[in-house]
Amino acid sequence: MPPPRILFLDQSGALGGGELYLLDVARAYANTSHVVLFEDGPFLDRLRAEGVSAEVMEVGESVHAVRKEAGPRALLSALPGLTQAVCRLAHRARDYDLIFANTQKTLFMGGLAGWWSARPVVWNLHDLLSPEHFTATTRRLAVWGANRLASHVIANSQATQRTFTDAGGRLPTSVVYNGIAPAPFRAVGPAEVAHQREQLGLGAAPVVGVFSRLAPWKGQHVLLDAVATLPNVHILLVGDALFEGDDAYAAALRRQAEEQGLSDRVHFLGFREDVPTLMRTCDVVAHTSVSPEPFGRVIVEGMLAERPVVATRAGGALEIIDHGATGWLVPPGEASALATTLRDLLAAPDRTRSVAAAGRRAAEARFSPTQMLLGIDRVFQKICPTSSPIPLPDSVCSSDHVCKQT
Ligand code: UDP
Ligand code: GLC
Repeated sequence: MPPPRILFLDQSGALGGGELYLLDVARAYANTSHVVLFEDGPFLDRLRAEGVSAEVMEVGESVHAVRKEAGPRALLSALPGLTQAVCRLAHRARDYDLIFANTQKTLFMGGLAGWWSARPVVWNLHDLLSPEHFTATTRRLAVWGANRLASHVIANSQATQRTFTDAGGRLPTSVVYNGIAPAPFRAVGPAEVAHQREQLGLGAAPVVGVFSRLAPWKGQHVLLDAVATLPNVHILLVGDALFEGDDAYAAALRRQAEEQGLSDRVHFLGFREDVPTLMRTCDVVAHTSVSPEPFGRVIVEGMLAERPVVATRAGGALEIIDHGATGWLVPPGEASALATTLRDLLAAPDRTRSVAAAGRRAAEARFSPTQMLLGIDRVFQKICPTSSPIPLPDSVCSSDHVCKQT
């Protein structure tokens, strides 16, 4: 029996958390699967560089223009483009056992293609279907579409799963957490950290890093407000504006840093590929989302880097951090509470070190790539019982202690 043949779909060419997750999943099924994106970008290059067969399907501007808040007019003008893309996807899907939709737009297009080609569809839900993130109409539409077009929903956290069922989702659901390989974090030694500090001109200053794309709901402005009250503390702002409309926020952050007299202490580093090194260069890793985070890969990564992690108390963060035992939680959007916690952590490195070590152990045990792949494969096995379980790649096993236990 061969492993299942999966047609993976994602609308984005950028490297957001959902795409980095799909990169790891698609790599594990690379021998039998294919990825279709609706947009060119660094995600396509990374997939191909890692041996995954992938292509960009041209869907036209009108289809790209259908976004979260798009009204009936945008939908109507996208109809010809959508129909054409669905036909092409349905044709492609005939060579595969299963369609895996990694985003909302691909749920609809992949869902219709699945119906047409009689292929089951799994939707991986990466977003909280909650009022902070979506309008009531979009939430209803997403759940209505999933109930009719998909067979199973994989949610990236219990919080995400709950919003689906609370909004009327009736499909079987499974929670599969993102799994992150610990090896790149373990590999960063003191010499690299010293080199990085020198390159950034940090001297002996305390450093707090935030590693999210620049977007209003990721709340980097709260960290600037907090650090304005903490003399000498430097901030690494790692990440870029990845999605439509976020450029204005990136510009506002730069203005804010200038107005608060923080320009020489705030380092805008843009999108970086060396997150493990940069995290280990920090004294504290902060996660500052002001709306609930659906999951939060960066929280797990900060723990794997064995750094004290402060995250906002909402959404997926509550499932990752045990406050005071493996990290710290602060109320979202409250700069003064964040400043107080940062001040305490920076003042007591010995106490925080043991929590950071417990955080690393918890992250390695609970968010491993093996657990993620086994969780996904269980869903695939249910839907395609004639396929064989996934052969776990050596690259995963060598960096993942859970491998040998399962
Ligand atoms: N990331 C990265 N380079 C950057 C900033 C972020 O590679 O400059 C990665 C980060 O390490 C994490 C992902 O982007 O794996 C962000 O995922 P998360 O789930 O935290 O948030 P999302 O952006 O998906 O909402
Ligand atoms: C989405 C969510 C983020 C999550 C990621 C991977 O981008 O915003 O919280 O960690 O998907 O599931």
